[in-house]
Amino acid sequence: MIKSFLCCGDVRRKVVLAGAMVLVAHSAVAQAANEDAAEALAKAGSCFKCHSVDKAKKAPSYKRIAQKYKGKADAEAALIKHLSGSQTVKVEDGGDEAHEPPPAKDAADLKNLVQWILSRE
Ligand code: HEC
Repeated sequence: MIKSFLCCGDVRRKVVLAGAMVLVAHSAVAQAANEDAAEALAKAGSCFKCHSVDKAKKAPSYKRIAQKYKGKADAEAALIKHLSGSQTVKVEDGGDEAHEPPPAKDAADLKNLVQWILSRE
């Protein structure tokens, strides 16, 4: 009697464990897809010409931008606005250059890029 009880508890634990593993694997895949899409969009928009993920180039690194906006409730909205139109920015060497919006497919694509930048800190 006691033995069969142990057996079933064990099976249940294995099922729960397998379910948890599927969840972990699934979120890892979703994360990778978003990262790929964000990096592809940044490449398509020539963002890496001036920005690097963690080193200062002509522009602040994405890491520094993420740190600057850390804990700010309007961070996402501010960056979406910054990347929704063309504007003039001062680059590191003091000159003025155009800041063009990335060629995002839609609002979700742009939001994914902004979330990627904000999570570089
Ligand atoms: C010509 C060089 C250049 C290119 C190309 C460029 N940026 Fe920038 N970017 C800058 C500079 C310089 C700043 C800093 C402006 C400031 O803080 O006033 C900046 C700022 C930013 C910021 C922070 C804005 C803020 O509110 O602090 C984000 C986000 C950003 N760029 C994303 C991008 C993305 C995404 C792309 C590609 C579509 C891109 N940039 C392409 C030069 C560039």
